[in-house]
Amino acid sequence: MQVPYMAFRDWPAGITQQVEQEVLRVMREQQFILGPEVKAFEDAFAKFLGADFAIGVGNGFDALVLALKAVGISPGDEVIVPANTFIATANAVVHLGAVPVLAEPDIQTYNLTAATAEKHITPKTKAIVAVHLYGQTCEMERLQGLCRSYSLKLVEDAAQAHGTKYKNQFAGTFGDAAAFSFYPTKNLGALGDGGAVVTSNPELAAFMYSYRNYGQQEKYHNELIGVNSRLDTLQAAVLTIKLKYLHRQNQERQRLADVYLQELQSIADLTLPVTADHCGHVYHIFNIRTSRRDELKSYLQQQGIQTAIHYPIPIHLQLAYNYLNYKTSDFPVTESLADTCLSLPLFPGITEAEQEQVIRCVKKFFI
Ligand SMILES: Cc1ncc(COP(=O)(O)O)c(C=O)c1O
Repeated sequence: MQVPYMAFRDWPAGITQQVEQEVLRVMREQQFILGPEVKAFEDAFAKFLGADFAIGVGNGFDALVLALKAVGISPGDEVIVPANTFIATANAVVHLGAVPVLAEPDIQTYNLTAATAEKHITPKTKAIVAVHLYGQTCEMERLQGLCRSYSLKLVEDAAQAHGTKYKNQFAGTFGDAAAFSFYPTKNLGALGDGGAVVTSNPELAAFMYSYRNYGQQEKYHNELIGVNSRLDTLQAAVLTIKLKYLHRQNQERQRLADVYLQELQSIADLTLPVTADHCGHVYHIFNIRTSRRDELKSYLQQQGIQTAIHYPIPIHLQLAYNYLNYKTSDFPVTESLADTCLSLPLFPGITEAEQEQVIRCVKKFFI
């Protein structure tokens, strides 16, 4: 049996048909850019999270750029970002002419912590980007406290954490602004690129509504030099439907994760994901670690099971970041993650037989 790493399945049943009908309806309406569905989704998403504003943009990268720009990041500023994250987090900082300053994640949760971030604060530091990696929230109270005591802006990268909660509050509502991605494979995914910035600060929101649309609130009246990064009407309409099922789909991800956690416990050379107190996890990625990662990956591949690595080359060792002059062994936790982590198939609609096959093969490999 072939087990895909990720597949788009009709789960819960009927969602695909609803999406297809909505795409046709919106297509026939012909309001492709900033049609009423965009505002409807922005309102629904903000309400879902308990925030005042969600600003729909072209993708998660743009959401990060807008969030950072809105909080005032400018050339020469230093912004602390986790060393273990998707490249977009650091690239967004560079895009504004600022310097990404990398900090180690916690070895248990793989997330940035206040303790690791604080070591990198200098007089030039302006902000911290908390990435809720793999779907687990960072310890937000401590990060908020750190930002308050050093007068830093706090931006959340919630691209992997739609619907995750820290204590009783949704990821994306702790910082000055938060970036979401609706890349198709995300927990809330569009049928193409999409993103949103979430904030409860009306000034930041006003800036971003304008900036994403060439710096205009009213057509041909440009108050600032903006960009074109708008969430498509079609994508917004699709997301409004899918948002209604986010909670159920996240619960299904958590159930599937519990099955893995239960079945794969007590294998000596296998580290399973750990959730910290109060930190919710919606398992965008189910990440395991083993010193025999490459061997395990190819064994599973031979058995027809697709896996992924998040992420194989840390940012500080990427060619593009040579100019920051980092070197191997600067971030041992991050480097060890890159060498040992493996993401197993986990998505709403994966069948019991498929998951059993993954479990059986992982066990067989180690025994
Ligand atoms: C942590 C993180 N940040 C940012 C992004 C960028 O989002 P996008 O691909 O929509 O630009 C992604 C996903 O791709 C991500 O996983």
